[in-house]
Amino acid sequence: MPETDAIQLGVNVDHVAAIRQARLTAYPDPIAAAEAALRGGADSITVHLREDRRHIQERDVEKLLATLAAPLNLELAVTEEMLAFAERARPAYCCLVPERREELTTEGGLEVSGQIGRIKQAVVRLQTAGCKVSLFIDADAGQIAAAARSGADMIEIHTGAYAEARTEAEREREFARIRDGVARGGDLGLQVNAGHGLHYDNTRDVAALPGVAELNIGHAIVARAVFTGLEEAVKEMRRLLREAGRG
Ligand code: PXP
Repeated sequence: MPETDAIQLGVNVDHVAAIRQARLTAYPDPIAAAEAALRGGADSITVHLREDRRHIQERDVEKLLATLAAPLNLELAVTEEMLAFAERARPAYCCLVPERREELTTEGGLEVSGQIGRIKQAVVRLQTAGCKVSLFIDADAGQIAAAARSGADMIEIHTGAYAEARTEAEREREFARIRDGVARGGDLGLQVNAGHGLHYDNTRDVAALPGVAELNIGHAIVARAVFTGLEEAVKEMRRLLREAGRG
């Protein structure tokens, strides 16, 4: 495989905070986890401040911003509370995501084309605060075109349907949607990232798509860290990205 541009790896540490919140203890510390992820080769750290605060808390975001030697990517719902928080916190990157309280994780991409005015306003507010803005969307032509119209800097293609495909045919179909979405986003001048449900067996093919600038991966890395430690789990993911020609 020919060597193309290095891919950026954002490591999501929400699940470290989820273990802490399960018992309301002071450990494990997501800030220490973020530092370990950076030692393992992460380029940035991602956290999602959910409306129900099930894992990451405001104080985690503030501490990460004060101490982290890497950019922070804050995932947030398009609500007044979250937008106002992001405007005050001013992380390097903001990723707008859909959010439903009862979901286990972020299911499906953000509806952009059906609420373009609201998304545009959120994008402008966050950009005015100095953040680069990404929209977490499905690999859908209409949503990608709307994302470009919204003025967002980037899109993150939701890889959940690909990760959860039950048959090889379904997996191939979902992979083709991602591949086409990546090309379409690039043609429209957007930086294209990808993430959700990526693990040590399904990431290689997505990483090998040369138009993908960054992957955001959380659950699989934190799960592997139980056995290997977080630094090593991130190193293993980085090795895999190198094998995909994106080291
Ligand atoms: N990208 C976005 C926008 C997400 O919401 C999430 C999950 O919080 C991820 C990536 C990471 O997904 P996973 O934990 O399945 O790797």
